[in-house]
Amino acid sequence: MAPPHWWTAGFWPGQLWLLYQDTKDEAIRNIAEECERHLDQVITDFIHLDHDIGFMWTLTSVARYKLLGKEDSRRRALLAANLLMGRFNVNGNYIRAWNPWFEGDENTGYAIIDCAMNLSLLFWASEQTGDPRYKAVAMRHADVILAHFIEEDGSVHHIVHFDPETGERRAFLGGQGYAADSAWSRGTAWALYGLTLCFDYTKEARYLQAAKKVAHFFIAHLPDDFVPHWDFRIPDDVTPYRDSSAGAIAGSGLMLLAEKVSQTESGIYAKAGNAILKSLYENYGAWDNEKEDGLILAGTSHYPEQKGIDVPLIYGDYFFVEGIARLRGKSEFFW
Ligand code: GLY
Repeated sequence: MAPPHWWTAGFWPGQLWLLYQDTKDEAIRNIAEECERHLDQVITDFIHLDHDIGFMWTLTSVARYKLLGKEDSRRRALLAANLLMGRFNVNGNYIRAWNPWFEGDENTGYAIIDCAMNLSLLFWASEQTGDPRYKAVAMRHADVILAHFIEEDGSVHHIVHFDPETGERRAFLGGQGYAADSAWSRGTAWALYGLTLCFDYTKEARYLQAAKKVAHFFIAHLPDDFVPHWDFRIPDDVTPYRDSSAGAIAGSGLMLLAEKVSQTESGIYAKAGNAILKSLYENYGAWDNEKEDGLILAGTSHYPEQKGIDVPLIYGDYFFVEGIARLRGKSEFFW
């Protein structure tokens, strides 16, 4: 079982809030609130938290504040935003990703593409407080994504290693992808969705342009059933497991992107998002297996470390449910 500070802690309550939005079922609300309260111990002992504080408190506290206007949730989410701000490296304009994974690990210069999704907590905090600093930090990090993570062809690096003193780029690292110059599909999905959110909050065209470029790369590399392999560039002798979670994230992100572009362009993204979500439902659902807790099969968490391969993943489930809500015409989400 994952420890309470693990980055995935928000996805179950996030699914419950999506359900509550539709059903107003108080039993569902009670469980989601209990999950949020459990996280209080983690934010007090914040030493284990990393940049994924955005995922964790957006889908718990921001969600509850948006739905119910509860002041204690607003305070928790602002505290989380402050902790995320504290990870900003002013020398390189990036938000530091992780803490040392083991004794002697030195990763103060690491930024990762997943953080694109954590920026909305900062944009939200600026809107809430009227203080532009959160938004400024989010935009500086987003600009680093444009400058260093996204290649000309729309493929995306997982980890970029900067010199934490000078801010200069040192290297690209493969991370959860196959290699430094491959194209990890979930990272591509984080970029697609996260940059669309950056555009939504700022209305800066450069973020929309980048989101579209990444979306084109993602769509162009989908296999026949529209559910991506775990990396878009792997050699023939590496097993091309699917990563259904990358499909679910991109499926929901593409539906949002379709709302943000002109009517002429919209169809491309809506059609692709629809096709991915439809295929997840028809070909990857665990509907017939009562013993299975997950909803969507065939996720790949971390192929290079051989962890969580060909399994349901809680974040895949969350984004599948969110994507279906978008298909059903819902427009209020928590990011
Ligand atoms: N944010 C971690 C992952 O996508 O696996």
